[in-house]
Amino acid sequence: MTTSRTVLVTGGNRGIGRAIAERMIADGHRVAVTARSGEGPEGALTVRAEMTDAASIDAAFTEIEAQLGPVEVVVANAGITRDTLLLRMTEEEFTSVIDTNLTGTFRVVKRAAKGLLKGRFGRVILISSVVGLYGSPGQINYSSSKAALVGFARSLTRELGGRGITANVIAPGFIETDMTAALPEEQQRQYLSSIPANRFGQVAEIAGAASFLAGDDAAYISGAVIPVDGGLGMGH
Ligand SMILES: NC(=O)c1ccc[n+]([C@@H]2O[C@H](COP(=O)([O-])OP(=O)(O)OC[C@H]3O[C@@H](n4cnc5c(N)ncnc54)[C@H](OP(=O)(O)O)[C@@H]3O)[C@@H](O)[C@H]2O)c1
Repeated sequence: MTTSRTVLVTGGNRGIGRAIAERMIADGHRVAVTARSGEGPEGALTVRAEMTDAASIDAAFTEIEAQLGPVEVVVANAGITRDTLLLRMTEEEFTSVIDTNLTGTFRVVKRAAKGLLKGRFGRVILISSVVGLYGSPGQINYSSSKAALVGFARSLTRELGGRGITANVIAPGFIETDMTAALPEEQQRQYLSSIPANRFGQVAEIAGAASFLAGDDAAYISGAVIPVDGGLGMGH
């Protein structure tokens, strides 16, 4: 058993975020999820929030604080892809992905930080991607946003590490969700051939890493990048 915490997962209505929320509930935490559409899993408080809008994130935190208490574990999971090759990528396609994946994470963690400092406890878990450090054609926008989360977590560790707050990155490989189902079959086959585990990952396998990072056993782990990718990124 681990200490019960108040956990927020962004983008908890589907995919990896939903699986993380389910696992956190099973671990005995009080769990809130943000969603733009739909609902989080049974047992979670669902609040509306748009990652590109700081006011909506502020309102979501205020509602969670009123119903569950201050947020102690933040899982910044909401993210998008808008894949295309550099020469075809518009500036809007670049900045919209950065705005959701990177600036959205900044908005969420900044809003959470005061409460974490006050409680002298915090676990910040950022959902990056293997392609942040591995690179991927057609994903200059996405991989840039995901690589930046490593610097984010490490700078946060240096700023707040002395106040009982840790910040870590999970770097999933190819996980079966709506996001990856949208990839062309040929690209899916190519990925599969380069994954040493010879299979795609399951959302529950990301949730397991998040569960560990939120738990008592991970108190001295900070600034780490934890790959959950079947060996694709070879530890990066
Ligand atoms: N699947 C993979 O193989 C893989 C691999 C590496 C990393 N990741 C990362 O893992 C995270 C989750 O991915 P997934 O595969 O579960 O994706 P998904 O099934 O496409 O779900 C994305 C989630 O993010 C939310 N979201 C997107 N843009 C948002 C915005 N502007 N404001 C608020 N919420 C927003 C979505 O909400 P709505 O339902 O309302 O759109 C949804 O809950 C992402 O950060 C992704 O980059 C995934």
